[in-house]
Amino acid sequence: MIQPMKTTLFFALLLIGQAVYTQENKITFYPDSAKDIISRHIYGHFSEHLGRCIYGGFWVDKDSGIPNTGRIRNDVVAALKEIAIPNLRWPGGCFADEYHWMNGIGPEEDRPSMINTNWGGVTEDNSFGTHEFMRLCQMLDCEPVVCGNVGSGTVREMSEWVEYLNSDNISPMTNLRKENGREESFGVRYFGIGNESWGCGGNMTAEYYSDVLRRYSSFCKNYGKNRLYKIASGPSDSNYHWTETLMKDWQTRQMFQGLSLHYYTRAHTESWSYKGSATDFTTGEWFSTMSNALRIDTFINRHSKIMDRYDPGKEIGLIVDEWGNWHDIEPGTNPGFLFQQNTLRDAVSAAVSLDIFNNHCDRVKMANIAQVINVLQSVLLTRDNDLVKTPTFYVFKMYKVHHDALLIPNSTQSVNYTEGGRSVAAVHSSCSRDDDGRYHITITNLDPDNALDVDCEFKGLKKMNVTKGEIITAGQMNALNDFGKEEEV
Ligand code: AHR
Repeated sequence: MIQPMKTTLFFALLLIGQAVYTQENKITFYPDSAKDIISRHIYGHFSEHLGRCIYGGFWVDKDSGIPNTGRIRNDVVAALKEIAIPNLRWPGGCFADEYHWMNGIGPEEDRPSMINTNWGGVTEDNSFGTHEFMRLCQMLDCEPVVCGNVGSGTVREMSEWVEYLNSDNISPMTNLRKENGREESFGVRYFGIGNESWGCGGNMTAEYYSDVLRRYSSFCKNYGKNRLYKIASGPSDSNYHWTETLMKDWQTRQMFQGLSLHYYTRAHTESWSYKGSATDFTTGEWFSTMSNALRIDTFINRHSKIMDRYDPGKEIGLIVDEWGNWHDIEPGTNPGFLFQQNTLRDAVSAAVSLDIFNNHCDRVKMANIAQVINVLQSVLLTRDNDLVKTPTFYVFKMYKVHHDALLIPNSTQSVNYTEGGRSVAAVHSSCSRDDDGRYHITITNLDPDNALDVDCEFKGLKKMNVTKGEIITAGQMNALNDFGKEEEV
């Protein structure tokens, strides 16, 4: 359960079938209707060459004095293993469409530099490239999700990257990989055909991108037994035209297995230049963050409806490969680095988003919060030798129980959380059953001021024992975890 401050959650014990429920909050679960698995990939993460995500986040200088294994931070690997990170998306984001992978292989001293034009104009020295990313995924025991360059790369370049990653044939790319020290193929399954092609990935129209997708995808081949799961660059927010355009044509639909969806939650949506502070916010801004986080439910519903028309068997996954809260940068930090702190507000909105993804797991097959370290809504922050586990980290830790578990559908009756004349339902939840038959319920109370009692009923179950409960909360709505201080959340 994720609880804002002042809330104590009462687990009304579940005596099923006969209880008379007088309380206003009631969640009914339907184990008999369960059929869909919550893919663990919904709990995925995103790492871009942006600010201090890769450099300073994962990757440190040889002589930094920060404990590392082959320049990858040990503390970061240990923390991400604690939340069983299932996949990691890389190298972007906007960066993906200006990344030329061949610049990031071979001896480090021979790798050319480039300018990271999207993110602060800093020099990218390409010291972290394909082999380093694959090694990181191996250390994290997670699946790589590689995003290819459609915007400024060639079809050949993308095709050769896939060959380099996945081929065990005798071929120029296989030989090159071997020369660079890797005998067997990497077996990459998830491969993105561009990123935000309607924006930083090339400013294309939906119609133009759908042709480009067909061309690029045609040359991303399967090697050996590995089968690519190609992710088309999809819409953001309510761009339903994009979804319709990619879905409506039979031949286009053969070109991808997943359709990406991006949505960032902001407290202020009038302009991107003012989103509000990450740490110093009003109850009105708390409310806006929650009500805007809930919009992802509408977006998923409506994109799914379009997809259902053309793909009723739900073969194509909706891949929410960028989501999370986007606040103003921390004062005094590089505007191009998108560094923000993370409070109880972020934990609560992450929880409600994950509950929404769980409840849509028939269509949502992967999601990647943006971004894993030091950028936007991170689970970890680093500063020199120090590491902070943010409130959002603890949500991912709590929700681990849902990985690959069976979704138990629910219907929720909730009181309203009202602020400044605006209202949303206060109570949100999801539930799953694991392989050992244990049920895990996560419940989120969006109201920062009022504790709520919630009755839970499991239809058709005679008896149930509650064995354990955990609450994520704090004394203040902007409580946070900071360097060198005791954790507040
Ligand atoms: O996550 C930051 C940026 O947001 C990504 O690079 C881009 O895809 C999106 O607009």
